[in-house]
Amino acid sequence: MTATPAGPGAGRNASPYLYGTEQAAVARVLASGHYGHTSTVEEFEEGVARLLGVEDAVAVSSGTAAVHTALVAAGITTGMDVIVPSLTFCATIQAILHCGARPRFAEVNPDTLCMDAPAVLDALTDTTTAVMPVLYGGRAVDLRPIDDLLAERGITVIEDAAHAFGSYQGLHRVGATGRLTCFSFGPIKNLTCGQGGMIIPRTRAEARRIRSLRLLGVVESASQRAASTTYQVTTPGAFRYQMSAINAAIGSVQLAHFATAQAVRKYLWRSYQTALRSVPDAILVDVDVDHSVPHLAVVKVPDRDRVWAYMREKGIGVGVHYPPNHEQPAFSPWHRPLPVTERLGQQIMTLPFHQHLTSDDIRYVVSTLQQALDTSGVSR
Ligand SMILES: Cc1ncc(COP(=O)(O)O)c(C=O)c1O
Repeated sequence: MTATPAGPGAGRNASPYLYGTEQAAVARVLASGHYGHTSTVEEFEEGVARLLGVEDAVAVSSGTAAVHTALVAAGITTGMDVIVPSLTFCATIQAILHCGARPRFAEVNPDTLCMDAPAVLDALTDTTTAVMPVLYGGRAVDLRPIDDLLAERGITVIEDAAHAFGSYQGLHRVGATGRLTCFSFGPIKNLTCGQGGMIIPRTRAEARRIRSLRLLGVVESASQRAASTTYQVTTPGAFRYQMSAINAAIGSVQLAHFATAQAVRKYLWRSYQTALRSVPDAILVDVDVDHSVPHLAVVKVPDRDRVWAYMREKGIGVGVHYPPNHEQPAFSPWHRPLPVTERLGQQIMTLPFHQHLTSDDIRYVVSTLQQALDTSGVSR
């Protein structure tokens, strides 16, 4: 394959994609003079709930805020243990620590990079109170085989679905399977609000508690507060995590175009899948593309650091998702040996993956990857 120069798409690992009317939607909010929690946020929440097929969705200021709030709402607090894959963004771990709980790091399945049921069982202890699967790359995690066991022990499952907005588990979208689920709408996610997140509660009571937790424990709306000389603070230790109308306006435009995002992301991922068939030394991590809206295109390669450096030199925006968390200095008190994750930490490389990519970009990325492997002397 002959390489053509990298287009702007190949140079970026990830990039937000706007559909063109986000600016006007933001301008309307700015002109309104109301930027906080307004009906614009409620409309976005209703739109997300409709798309997922759930009764309620609660918007917050980030995916990290979503995970933190969901953990608190589920009663996770000081001294409890939460099973979590080491292979996730550090935000997942920090949110567990915010609650005073302890991360119990678990392995992932080396084919999917997700913490599956056997990995959870392997990490289970008498002090486990919650399990937080991460839907890596957009792939749903099916923990139903151990649901009964977890329920018997009173263990809650809280999904970190930051990568997986729009993906399916079976016939249901992630978020509509009865789990407490958290999404991120950060700049490079499947749907972006600029910054933002969403929690899908399991019950109406949980939704009320999350709404109170996200807004300093105050239950009255802005208009109710304006019409009264007082308001009630009902939840101690609540957060200022509400989503702004500016972010929600962006989110609603993105939501209206979500079918496009879904189709384009699947198409691009399948294009990588086809192109990488000619590169046997690079193994594409399977995201179950028929059911997911892919968020990442990750390959496992030998001599990853050299291959990564070669690709960067050629102007390709490769990345690593993620350096394992159990090896991070801040999380050393909770370190335990995880040989599968440690090996993956040396093998995984994220290829450019976003909606600005063209077929030429993908050809260039894959042909340069082949060259990188040839240069490293690892190609078969
Ligand atoms: C797996 C995972 N969890 C949580 C988060 C946190 O989301 P946010 O950046 O919106 O706070 C991210 C963000 O990239 C993530 O990838």
